[in-house]
Amino acid sequence: MSTQLLAGKRGVIFGALDNQSIAWQVAEVCAEMGATFTLTNAPVALRFGSLNELAERLNAEVIPADATSIEDLENLFTRSEEVLGGKIDFVLHAIGMSLNVRKGKEYTDLKHDWMLKTFDISAVSFHKMCQVLYKGDHMADWGSILGLTYIAAQRTFPDYSEMAESKALLESFARSFGYHFGEKNHVRVNTISQSPTMTTAGKGVKGFTEFFDYADNMSPLGNASARACGEYCATLFSDLTRYVTMQNLFHDGGFSSMGMNPKALK
Ligand SMILES: NC(=O)c1ccc[n+]([C@@H]2O[C@H](COP(=O)([O-])OP(=O)(O)OC[C@H]3O[C@@H](n4cnc5c(N)ncnc54)[C@H](O)[C@@H]3O)[C@@H](O)[C@H]2O)c1
Repeated sequence: MSTQLLAGKRGVIFGALDNQSIAWQVAEVCAEMGATFTLTNAPVALRFGSLNELAERLNAEVIPADATSIEDLENLFTRSEEVLGGKIDFVLHAIGMSLNVRKGKEYTDLKHDWMLKTFDISAVSFHKMCQVLYKGDHMADWGSILGLTYIAAQRTFPDYSEMAESKALLESFARSFGYHFGEKNHVRVNTISQSPTMTTAGKGVKGFTEFFDYADNMSPLGNASARACGEYCATLFSDLTRYVTMQNLFHDGGFSSMGMNPKALK
């Protein structure tokens, strides 16, 4: 991709764990399109993942932050402004983790203290992130904030469990903060509802491989890849989409509008 759509833009990208991560692909695309950015993940993920390898290749600084910690987020955005040399034009929140899914608990037998932790990591972290950006006045005018979500926020996908409610909450936070950020300094806030994608988080859901194939057959364009998601994110970080805000945008090859595709029955 040769276009320099994001030339001069400064960003912060959460959630790249390894080269399968959607955020990893977003970072690759943003770098190709001329953006500079910092990369962040939870300290524990930095030990188990391969973020440092990406950072070295793209010449981006890694700033560890647990997205549930206000203190870590304050340090992240203050430091990012210093490193990047100005206010932040775009932020990607690509964070999801369910304790109950990870431990194989059925939806009718969830542990509610784990559920609250899941909500904190997967959804409340988005509010915390926006609040720190808002109060610290870190976003540049006409900036763009994106969160990644899934259609289980609107329809029932039983094995997605409590992540469905996490995503519904995340989408609602994005809409509400879209109002406040729009009024403050024309910053837009949206969520992208992505196809099933083969990543660590995706593969943690029971029956994911079979479901991945089902969604691929249901979608007239097939499942959208992580790379394609990166390209879509780049358009939403660019100046070409300045009036798109408070939206949940489906990036799913048409899946969300299908009732039945004969291909999926074969
Ligand atoms: N894979 C899919 O099928 C799919 C589909 C739609 C939406 N999404 C969403 O895309 C986003 C990215 O997930 P992915 O599929 O690339 O998987 P991934 O496992 O590569 O990324 C999830 C990231 O969340 C990070 N994280 C977890 N707890 C954190 C914390 N406390 N602080 C900071 N970071 C933390 C992990 O370290 C990891 O980098 C998630 O929001 C996910 O729900 C994924």
